[in-house]
Amino acid sequence: MSHYQITSLEHYHEAYAESVSNPDKFWGDIAEENFKWMKKWDNVCDWNFSEPKVEWFKGAQLNITENCLDRHLEERGNKLALIWEPNDPKERFIRYTYRELYEKVCQMANVLKKHGIKKGDRVAIYMPMIPELTISVLACARIGAIHSVVFAGFSAHSLADRINDAEAKMVLTSDGLYRGAKEIPVKRVVDEALQTCPSVKTVLVAERTRWAVNMVEGRDFWLHDELDTVNKECPAEPMNSEDMLFILYTSGSTGKPKGVVHTCGGYMVYAGYSFKNVFQYEESDIYWCTADIGWITGHTYIVYGPLINGATTVMFEGVPTFPDAGRFWQVCDKYGVNQFYTAPTAIRALMAKGEDHVLSYSLDSLRVIGTVGEPINEEAWQWYYIHVGKEKCPVVDTWWQTETGGIMISGLGKHSPMKPAHAGYPLPGIQPVLLDQEGNEIEGNEEEGYLCVKHPWPSILRTTYGDHERCRVTYFSHYKGYYFTGDGARRDENGMYRIIGRVDDVINVSGHRFGTAEIENAINANDLVAESAVVGYPHDIKGQGIYAYVITKNPVQNEDILRAEIVETVVEEIGKIAKPDKIQFVSGLPKTRSGKIMRRILRKVAEGDTSSLGDTSTLLDPDVVDEIKNGAL
Ligand code: WTA
Repeated sequence: MSHYQITSLEHYHEAYAESVSNPDKFWGDIAEENFKWMKKWDNVCDWNFSEPKVEWFKGAQLNITENCLDRHLEERGNKLALIWEPNDPKERFIRYTYRELYEKVCQMANVLKKHGIKKGDRVAIYMPMIPELTISVLACARIGAIHSVVFAGFSAHSLADRINDAEAKMVLTSDGLYRGAKEIPVKRVVDEALQTCPSVKTVLVAERTRWAVNMVEGRDFWLHDELDTVNKECPAEPMNSEDMLFILYTSGSTGKPKGVVHTCGGYMVYAGYSFKNVFQYEESDIYWCTADIGWITGHTYIVYGPLINGATTVMFEGVPTFPDAGRFWQVCDKYGVNQFYTAPTAIRALMAKGEDHVLSYSLDSLRVIGTVGEPINEEAWQWYYIHVGKEKCPVVDTWWQTETGGIMISGLGKHSPMKPAHAGYPLPGIQPVLLDQEGNEIEGNEEEGYLCVKHPWPSILRTTYGDHERCRVTYFSHYKGYYFTGDGARRDENGMYRIIGRVDDVINVSGHRFGTAEIENAINANDLVAESAVVGYPHDIKGQGIYAYVITKNPVQNEDILRAEIVETVVEEIGKIAKPDKIQFVSGLPKTRSGKIMRRILRKVAEGDTSSLGDTSTLLDPDVVDEIKNGAL
C-alpha cells in the first residue's frame, strides 16, 4: 500500500496510528517515496518545544522547484500546470504547461541572479494575482532566495514595515491591478513604501494595466525587458532541508505583524502530502483555490501543494461578485473544475445574492469542495453542500494557520465522515490536544479547551524572522511542551473537532487576521485620537467585524467626518482590509485599577448583548460602562 495516498477511512486510521507510534518512519517513508532529494537526510526529526528547535530531514538537500517542475517534465511536460483566469471574463485566459512554466521560472530566476540576488537574500513580492506572481515565488525558490509575499491590498506603510523587517534587497511588483470593479496603482504604493526602505536596490515591474508609472533610473526595470535578456535554463540551487524557503507576515495578539518562517524540506513534504489527501487529487483533475497568493492558503494550495503533485492549478485574478455573483460557478464550468477551495466569507457573500446565480451553472465536474480561514456557520455549510456540491461532494472544512504551513484538521475527500461546522479529524502526523486553563490535557469527548499540538509535523513554523524569542513566547510558552494555536476548540461525541475561534486578541475578518493592538495603533496614529480599543463582533458576511471605541483629544464636532478620517488613517496604516466597521466615540474605557482594559465588556456591548456584563465592580470608573452601553451602535 502506498504511504502517500489515503484511499479509505480504514487506511486513514492505520496511517494515523502509525504516524503517532512511529512518526520518523511514517514521514521518512513518505519523503522517500514521493519526493526528489539531491542528498538524503541523516535524521528524520530532531526537536524540542522548549527553545523551540524543530528540524526535519536534517542533512538532506533538495530544491522544492525540482519537485514542482523538473521532475514532471518527462511525464507531464505538456500537461497544464497553471491556468490563469483574469478579472474580466472578456479578457483571454493564459495557460502554461509544465514545460512552459519551468522555462518561465528559470528565466525569471536568471533575471533575479542578473540583478545580484543570491541564496539567502530576501525578495519582497507585492503583486496582484497575475501569472508573474506564481513565477516569481518559484523563481526565488529556484535560486534559494527567500520570498516574502505581501498581499497587494496592504498599504505602503505595511509594505515598508515588512520590507524593512526582512531587509529585502529587491521588490517584485506590477504597474497596477484590477480587482473586481477596482483599479489600484500598485507601483505607486511601492514607490511610497520605498521612501523608507534603504535595503531595496532593485524593483522589477510586471506589466498588467499598461498605465504610465514612475520608473526610477537604475532602480526600476520592466520585467518583460529583463526577461528578454536571459536564457531558459537555470540550475536548481541545492538547499539544505532546514534552509529558509519563505517568510510570510501574519498578525498576532501583540505588536506588529511577525514574519513566520518556513523551511524547505519539511514544508515541501507536508504541502505535497496534505494537498494530495485532503483534495484527493487524481491525475487529470483541474483544481482551483480562490485564495490570494498573498496569504498562506495561496502559498501552499495554489502554488506548492498542487505543483508538487503535478496538478493543474487555476489562479484567479478577480473577486466572487464581479461582474456578477455567478463568477465562481462560471469559472468552475468553464474549466471543468474538480476540486474547489474557498473561504466561508465568500460563500456567505454569494449566499446573500440568492440561489439563481449558482443554479444557472451545472457544476457537475465538482468532486470535492473545501473551505478555509474561519469557522463556517451551519447555514453557509448547508448552502455550499446543497447548491454548490449538489449533495454529492464532500465538504472539507480545513483548519490550519500561517504557522502550521498546511492543513491540520480536515476531512480527506470522501474518505472521512463529515458534519457541518466541524473540521473533523486530524491529518496523519498531527496530534492535537485540548488543554484546560492550567495546561492539563483534557481527555475524552464532548469537551472544550485550548487547542494545542503536542508533536511537531514537517511544516510547523521554525521561527519568527529575526526574533526567535518572540516565536517561543507566542507559541511555546503558554503551555510547556506544546505548540499553542491561539484557537479554542471542542471535540464532539465522536472526537470530531469543531474550531470555536480565537481565544487571544486576534480578530478574523473575512478570513484575514488582525491583532486588536495592531488596529488600535493604526487608529491612534490619527492626530485627533487620544486612545482606542478594538474588539471583534459577529458580522453576517465577514464572520467578524471590527468595532472600535475611540476617545478623542478634543470634543467631537461632527462624528461622521471624524469617523471617515479615522477610517482613512487605518487604510493608510494597514490597508482597506482593516477598515473598522463601527466606530463609537466614548469619553473613557472600562479599565481595571491596574489599567487593563476589560475587553470582555467591550465585546459584549459590540455584540449587542448588554444584559449580562458580569462583574464591573473592579473597574476604576464603573460609570463609563453605562455611557458605553447607551451609545452602542
Ligand atoms: C482560523 C489560514 C475555523 C483560526 C489558513 C486560525 C479557522 C486562523 C479555519 C489562521 C477553519 C482557519 N475553521 N477557523 N476551517 N481555518 N481558521 O493564519 O482561528 O490566516 O487560527 O491561516 O484562522 O489564519 P491564517
